[in-house]
Amino acid sequence: MCPDHRSTVIPPRARGAAGSAVAVAHPNIALIKYWGKRDEQLVLPWTDSLSMTLDIFPTTTRVRLAPGASDDTVTLDGAPARGEALRRVTAFLAVVRARAGLRQRAVVDSENTVPTGAGLASSASGFAALALAAAAAYGLDLDATALSRLARRGSGSASRSVFGGFALWHAGTSEDADRGSYAERVPAEGVDPALVVAILDAGRKDVSSREAMRRTVDTSPLYRSWAASSRADLLDMRAALSRGDLDAVGEIAERNAFGMHATMLAARPAVRYLSPATFTVLDSVLRLRREGTAAYATMDAGPNVKVLCRRADAERVAAVVREAAAGAPVHVAGPGPGARLMGEDR
Ligand code: DP6
Repeated sequence: MCPDHRSTVIPPRARGAAGSAVAVAHPNIALIKYWGKRDEQLVLPWTDSLSMTLDIFPTTTRVRLAPGASDDTVTLDGAPARGEALRRVTAFLAVVRARAGLRQRAVVDSENTVPTGAGLASSASGFAALALAAAAAYGLDLDATALSRLARRGSGSASRSVFGGFALWHAGTSEDADRGSYAERVPAEGVDPALVVAILDAGRKDVSSREAMRRTVDTSPLYRSWAASSRADLLDMRAALSRGDLDAVGEIAERNAFGMHATMLAARPAVRYLSPATFTVLDSVLRLRREGTAAYATMDAGPNVKVLCRRADAERVAAVVREAAAGAPVHVAGPGPGARLMGEDR
C-alpha cells in the first residue's frame, strides 16, 4: 500500500464515534471524464473515469455530532447552507447515519478555497472531506476503498479526491452495483505533470453538472458513442500513464473533454459551458503546441480551462495562458495529496 493510501484510512484512535473530526481534501480534474449516471440514487456512472488530484484549492470540513438537535446545521464558507446545497449534505449525512446505526444530527462547517459551483471541482474536494470527517465523527471503520465508495454517494467525482496523484474511478457492473464502484490510485511514475488552471469565470453555473448530465444522457444522440469512445480512451490513457508519455496523456485527455462537450451541445436543449474566453485560451494552447511545447486543454462543467503540461514548462505555459486570459486569475497546480484527517478533535 502506498503511504497516501494508508493516510486516508481512519486511524484506530479516531474510531468509535469520535463525535468530532476535521478533514482536508483537494479537488481533482478528470483527464477521462465522468459524464452520466446509470443510477442517480447510488451515484453509479456509465463509464470509468480518471483524474489528477491537485495540490491547490483544498476544502477543510469539520463535523461535530449534535446530541439533542432535531436537524443538521450546515455552514459553507461561513454562511448557512440552503436549498440544494443543504439538501445534498443532509442526504449524505443520512447515508453515514444509516451505516453507523446512529440518529444524532450533526453540525458541519466547510471552508472552500476554490469558487463553489463554477466547474472547478468544489464538490469533489467538498464531499471527499465531508465523507472522511463524517465517517470519523460517526465512528465508521473504513478503508480507503470504502471511503471512496461513501464519498461517491455525495458527488461522483469525490470518490477520486480520496486519493492523491492519479485516480481511476471504476463504474462497476450491474451485478456488483454499489460495491464495485470506487476509485483507486493509478501509478504514473514517469510523468511529471502540472495543470495550469485559468479561472475565466468564478460565478456559479446556470445549469448544474447534475442536471446537465441527466439531460445529456436522456436526450443527446451523441451520448452512447461518446461513452463507447471514452472506454477506449481510458485504456489508451492507462497505457500512456504507465509508459510515462505525457504527450499521449494530454492528447487523450483533450479529445475526451472535447467529446464530452460535444455530447452536451447535442443535448435538447443544448448545454453550453464554454464561452468566447474559453476559445481564446484554447487558441493559445494550440499556439504553444505549434511552437513545440506540450500543452493540452481540458474543460469541465464551466468555461474554465485547465492546461496539462510538463512541470518544467508550467511557468512558461502559465505566462502564455495568462496573456490569453486577459487578466483572469491563472494558477499552477501539481499532483496533490489524498484526503486526510487533521488529528483528533474530541
Ligand atoms: C465535468 O461529480 O460534480 O467535472 O456526481 O452529480 O455530483 P455529481 O457530479 P460531479 O460531476 C463532475 C463532472 C465533470 C467531470 C469529472 O469530474 O469527471
